[in-house]
Amino acid sequence: DEGLSRDLYQLMEASANYFQQQLRHHPNQQQVNAYVEKRGLSKEIVEQFSIGYAPDGWDNLMRTLGQHADAQEKLLAGGMLIANEQGRRYDRFRDRLMFPIRDRRGRVVAFGGRVLGDGTPKYLNSPETPIFHKGHELYGLYELRQRHRDPQRVMIVEGYMDVVALAQFGIDYAVASLGTSTTSEQFQMLLRSAKEVVCCYDGDNAGKEAAWRAMETALPLMKPGDNVRFMFLAQGEDPDSMVRQIGKAQFEVLIDQALTINELLFNELTKQHGSDKASLAKHGITLIEKIQDEVLQNMMLEELATRVQMNNAEHM
Ligand code: GTP
Ligand code: MN
Ligand code: MN
Ligand code: MN
Ligand code: MN
Repeated sequence: DEGLSRDLYQLMEASANYFQQQLRHHPNQQQVNAYVEKRGLSKEIVEQFSIGYAPDGWDNLMRTLGQHADAQEKLLAGGMLIANEQGRRYDRFRDRLMFPIRDRRGRVVAFGGRVLGDGTPKYLNSPETPIFHKGHELYGLYELRQRHRDPQRVMIVEGYMDVVALAQFGIDYAVASLGTSTTSEQFQMLLRSAKEVVCCYDGDNAGKEAAWRAMETALPLMKPGDNVRFMFLAQGEDPDSMVRQIGKAQFEVLIDQALTINELLFNELTKQHGSDKASLAKHGITLIEKIQDEVLQNMMLEELATRVQMNNAEHM
């Protein structure tokens, strides 16, 4: 209900403030700052994304914000506390670098917490709560909109660190889909935000699969004039490591070279089916059938026909 939600938003904001304050003043500050520095995050970017630190210990947040039974219930409902089988409650996020996730209106609705170093899980995310539905939010979208009212281009990446690092290097139009594959709803948000959507997943097999799934998710939503493109990074790189290596200008050259959705679709079909034009056509049609827009669908079918014929000629 509305009252609960209002209280949850308030507690999430208070939690974000608490974590930010801990990043500045906690006794473990040196170790945290060493990590922040190692990741190359500037003071400004830490500020801009309200990045904080959840101290080690079982009840730091609980003692700070959950003194009253009522508030404690709400911290639990907001996913900031966990209750074990004996009913004992403790902080979900401990000794982690904290990334607040804001909704479109700037309200903190969840967190992603990164372990400082090599522990597991690498990232811990808030669970689904009355105010947080993973597939409906995009990390960094609010921050992007603060900088660009009407962005030309948005880029979708896998991770918090990717969004933050890109922004620090002046590529301040990236958002992340929170560890899961990009949902249809998220694509709709992206297409509503800008005319050009560039997908840039990690340079590994998971990233390649994510790109293909993203293409299948985007097809039904596309209208003529929509420009959805796909960027593939060198093996082992992600946007964070890449932009640090090559800088903004070179990174933007890579963006300009990104494949259009048609190029990705037809390249991949040709790779998968080679000279087997019947199976290429069949698979192509299954994909193109997903397109709801008739004009676009016909254009793609024509291109498919041309490709099948080209393929035919090559192998005669
Ligand atoms: P860094 O290692 O800090 O650079 O993070 P990364 O974003 O490069 O990590 P990775 O490519 O492995 O994962 C991409 C995104 O998937 C992360 O930003 C998280 O949102 C999510 N993710 C990664 N590891 C985990 C995990 O252990 N648990 C959960 N729930 N999500 C994860
Ligand atoms: Mn800008
Ligand atoms: Mn990865
Ligand atoms: Mn990374
Ligand atoms: Mn990565």
